[in-house]
Amino acid sequence: MSHPRIDFDPFGEPRPAGTTHAMLDELREQCPAFHSPAAHGFWVLTRYADILAAYQDTASHSSRAIAVIDQNPSYQWIPVMLDPPEHTTWRRLLRPLFTPARAAAMEDAIRRRCVELIDALAARGSCDFVTDFARRYPTAVFLEFMGLPVGRLEEFLEWEYAILHARSSAGAGRAEAMGKVTALFEELIAERRRDPSDDVVSAAIAFEPDGRPVTDGELLQLCTLLFLAGLDTVAAQLSYSFWHLARHDADRARISADPAVIPDAVEELLRAYSLVLPARKLTADATTHGCPMHAGDMVMLPLAMANRDPRVFADPQTVDFDRTSNRHIAFGAGPHRCLGSHLARLELRVALEEWHRRVPDYRIPDGARPTEHASLVLGLDTLPLTWRPLTG
Ligand code: HEM
Repeated sequence: MSHPRIDFDPFGEPRPAGTTHAMLDELREQCPAFHSPAAHGFWVLTRYADILAAYQDTASHSSRAIAVIDQNPSYQWIPVMLDPPEHTTWRRLLRPLFTPARAAAMEDAIRRRCVELIDALAARGSCDFVTDFARRYPTAVFLEFMGLPVGRLEEFLEWEYAILHARSSAGAGRAEAMGKVTALFEELIAERRRDPSDDVVSAAIAFEPDGRPVTDGELLQLCTLLFLAGLDTVAAQLSYSFWHLARHDADRARISADPAVIPDAVEELLRAYSLVLPARKLTADATTHGCPMHAGDMVMLPLAMANRDPRVFADPQTVDFDRTSNRHIAFGAGPHRCLGSHLARLELRVALEEWHRRVPDYRIPDGARPTEHASLVLGLDTLPLTWRPLTG
């Protein structure tokens, strides 16, 4: 039986910002499922209901591989690449570290970091939002969260960039950076074993999955995931949010004039600019919408396709802070739903509040053309902004 084959390859060269969301919208309306030959081949489910069902069905959708660009990984990040029942055990252990109360307890420290970064920029009247703010801020929060000295920010930024944003030609740089991150986490784990404090790593050292002590290898896979999960996502979400606000005067003015709207704005921007492109490895053969999928095949479940599906969201391409019943799944769905969502929401809210307090009006300079690229996460490469510095 024939099925749709579409050369969908979002992993190539940078392209104008917004291109990928438009492409995903178009593909969704063409068909509910298709095969792409890119990145060793993968299926794509395009509509909210099917995507949600796939995330919930962990028996036939394994998380042993979660990115179509790496279909047979040699690593197993904890907990995101574990399947039940192992995943359930880890999730139970990790839950207390990611409660709303634990995130709220970090608010003052997060706000301080955020204000420091904005104060360093506000009087300049221009910046590249991606490099000068969006990547630095979640990295500073991560260091705080992990109990690492904020003095290591520059080092971390460098490694993070080499791992997540280097093009394929820079493979050696990526491996080297990953090695440095691993060495730092190994050192941190050894240090906290000797001298526990009240941070995440010290808490994780006390874990007893299945009644036996946690191993250093497991702690390392956990730290690595926290490093990769919380930095790029928040940076990308902030960049798309400010790309939107810089181009939509009414939305920007409303946030500046009425900060009480910010929590709703955060949710709507998460929906409209969803950016994670998770995938699953099928454990059984199945025919879905006429597509003959086989055990071992990868299926991509793009969150932007779900969250901009007109079958669920009225006028989905419009950002509407007054949208009611915004049941988006920007943080995923099913048992792997983002553990860091409370922290992420807090980071996004605080950034919108503090930025607009200091820089209420800004725009993209004439002639600037922000670009985007995709790996497991869609992100902007640059976002030049200019504004008139406030005086007095
Ligand atoms: C806007 C920011 C963020 C977005 C959009 C986001 C999105 C996601 C998504 C979609 C997943 C599910 C992946 C899958 O099912 O394969 C996930 C999982 C996860 N995220 Fe986030 N995330 C964000 C921020 C964070 C932060 C700040 C942290 C923590 C410090 C974090 C920690 C995690 C963890 C630990 C998991 C794995 C959960 C599990 O497998 O049970 N995330 N995130």
